[in-house]
Amino acid sequence: MKGLLLAGGHGTRLRPLTFTGNKHMIPIANQPMLFYGLRHLAQAGIREVGIILGTVHEGIEEAIGDGRAFGLEVTYIHQGDPRGLADAVRCARSFLGDEPFVMYLGDNLLQQGALPFVDLYERDTPDAVVGATVVADPRSYGVVELGPDGSIVSISEKPAHPKSNLALIGVYLFTPAIHDVVAKLKPSARGEFEITDAIWALHGTGAKVAVQKVEGWWKDTGRPEDLLEANERVLRAFPRDQLKREGTVESGAEVRGGVALGLGTVVRAGARIHGPAVIGSGCEIGPGAYVGPATALGNRVKVVGASVRRSILLEGATISGPLEIVDSILGRESRVVAQEPARRISCILGDATMLRL
Ligand code: DAU
Repeated sequence: MKGLLLAGGHGTRLRPLTFTGNKHMIPIANQPMLFYGLRHLAQAGIREVGIILGTVHEGIEEAIGDGRAFGLEVTYIHQGDPRGLADAVRCARSFLGDEPFVMYLGDNLLQQGALPFVDLYERDTPDAVVGATVVADPRSYGVVELGPDGSIVSISEKPAHPKSNLALIGVYLFTPAIHDVVAKLKPSARGEFEITDAIWALHGTGAKVAVQKVEGWWKDTGRPEDLLEANERVLRAFPRDQLKREGTVESGAEVRGGVALGLGTVVRAGARIHGPAVIGSGCEIGPGAYVGPATALGNRVKVVGASVRRSILLEGATISGPLEIVDSILGRESRVVAQEPARRISCILGDATMLRL
């Protein structure tokens, strides 16, 4: 069994963050999003993983290398422009060979991981397994309709009038049977080679497509609010005993709840941190600062005289002055500097942005 992890695409809905970096390297609880998928593939017993790269792929190879740190052997596959999920399978054809594979969309986070897909495959030997879960509004996903016996009645991509509330999540298991249908696929109305069309075509050949109902939470991190929600969920689920406090907490500072503090980080007298939160290394949480729940601060972040809650601050970001930042994502080396009167803002800032209030 091989793994195919998708990290291509343009990430347009996460601009401006994706103007200067790949969306899959945006950190969730201070770990690049892509690492979660890699770990889930390793936990499912997979050793060889192909990673699909798009046009903006800086940082991915540098961070993952040959995959050894994850117990994996990683091969990089260049897709270039994002021509669809089925096109990614086509690009990986020679890497995949004639083995079954788990395809994992790199912008998906799911609590249960990929092992239940492999278990179902080994138990029932279907030709494909698709993951599905009930959502309130299925119009922005692939949608699967099931008959009373659980068999697939229809599958469509982002339908305007969904026939069910079961959304396809971004983890699939395919046998080599998928390659024939992918080779014959035509682009959809939006110009992409849709994996949903390939699955429907595979089903049409009489192949057995099993549906794995996903347990626990699942998040497609397409939009900034999704990233904040995923960040909060991961932080709230983090086992307290794995949160290392390596930094210095001065007397008169308050650190409460599940909080990780990286090496060389200083929490100054009078500062307050209420977890769950992760704070990287070399940070300064200065006097009068408040870091509230569901916040992840990357390395070298400075919070001086300001408050931040339910936010993600990337490496080197600084906030200072009479300011409260909530539900925000601040890019690398960005700065928000405030003066009286005090303000409360929510924003998405690209790398190296300067905001004076
Ligand atoms: O998240 C689940 C949904 O993912 C499914 O319900 C849909 O059926 C499926 O089509 C997909 O929809 P999205 O609109 O969310 O796909 P998106 O374009 O965001 O791409 C998903 C991931 O695949 C993302 O990590 C980028 C990567 N990708 C995407 C394309 C189009 C590639 O690597 N290459 C590509 O050509």
